[in-house]
Amino acid sequence: MRKNVSGKNYLRWDIVRLCNKAGKVLHPQFVKQRLRRGLGRLRKREGLRYISLSLSSACSADCIYCPANRGESIKTKMMPFESVEKITQEITSRHFQRMHNIESISISTNGDAFLNKDVIKILRFLKRKVPEIKKVCFTNFRAFTKEKIDIVLREGLIDFMGCNIDGSTPESYYSVKKADYNKVREHLLYFIEMRKKLWRDMPLMMSITTFYAYVSSIRKGLGIYPSRAGDVDIENLSDDFQQTRDQYKDLLDHPKDHILKTGVRGWAERHQIDPSTIDYSHYNCPILDRVKQTAYIAPDGSWWSCCWDGNNEIIFGNVIDTSIHDVFLSQKRKRFFELLENRKFKEIGSPCETVNCCQEFGC
Ligand SMILES: C[S@@+](CC[C@H](N)C(=O)[O-])C[C@H]1O[C@@H](n2cnc3c(N)ncnc32)[C@H](O)[C@@H]1O
Ligand code: SF4
Ligand code: SF4
Repeated sequence: MRKNVSGKNYLRWDIVRLCNKAGKVLHPQFVKQRLRRGLGRLRKREGLRYISLSLSSACSADCIYCPANRGESIKTKMMPFESVEKITQEITSRHFQRMHNIESISISTNGDAFLNKDVIKILRFLKRKVPEIKKVCFTNFRAFTKEKIDIVLREGLIDFMGCNIDGSTPESYYSVKKADYNKVREHLLYFIEMRKKLWRDMPLMMSITTFYAYVSSIRKGLGIYPSRAGDVDIENLSDDFQQTRDQYKDLLDHPKDHILKTGVRGWAERHQIDPSTIDYSHYNCPILDRVKQTAYIAPDGSWWSCCWDGNNEIIFGNVIDTSIHDVFLSQKRKRFFELLENRKFKEIGSPCETVNCCQEFGC
């Protein structure tokens, strides 16, 4: 022990310690191990972190802010269980894990996952095979029935729930979503009640986009009227954001849960915009890092560019016919990011050429 070493031996003791350390550090085995670990970390930093599955590209709602042609270009509407099985097999392989570090799997991109008849079987499978990966789901709660809510909560199949609740009355809700508010509210309240009863620690994020918020944000952000808002008199339109929020805020479990106004994006208005009028020097891809780190997988296995590419216009490859890793390394994907990073939106074409519609607007 250093404190028992007499004063004149301090120096000798330190030299011995330093030599030992240097010997260890310079040992070829040690150097090799450190280099390999450093390279691994560097590689993983460039790899994937998120898998975004579209278990269903169908939806029971028809939101004013969601593109009318969403998912139309891909005929397969439901992702089969076998595709999730293959994807999971790949992401749990040692080869894949040397390059990528998946933190979360979302099941509900570009549609409503609860319309897939195998959704519970898929969630159970994911829980068993990848318990360490966070399972994320956004839904409008229409097809998240009481029976499914019971199973999901009892078995802890989802780690984070997101939901949009876009009005305080059946009428205002319908004006945004063309869907049945009473059923949605029934399911949502049941979820909140059962979660409490079962002591489930599953955060819920509720987002609100009222009719007023959407119309005024699009008007302010893009200078146009939303294509599916009908003839609106914006000056006399009232906003029921507070009423919507007040209906739910006291039922939530704070600070774990949140209820907030959504920042509006204009992906549903792309067809109204003439790309030749856009001054690209003003814009970046607003979610570039996220897009680079995510594999967006459509029901037929196509890996498409990003969540704001509603009609799956840019496809890098098919992860079921090949593999996630092959598509990750594909020339098409590489070229896409070269252009995107250099803001060559026009060269990429649709949907990135209307990059102004990908920005978030406030009202
Ligand atoms: C595209 S949806 C898909 C998942 C699911 N069907 C749902 O709506 O929750 C994912 C999230 O994007 C949000 N979203 C959709 N269109 C939007 C827009 N134009 N601006 C801002 N957020 C939008 C929705 O509120 C939803 O929470
Ligand atoms: S935003 Fe979600 S709930 Fe609304 S139509 Fe699109 S996919 Fe369906
Ligand atoms: S559509 Fe293109 S520019 Fe827009 S968010 Fe997606 S990748 Fe970025």
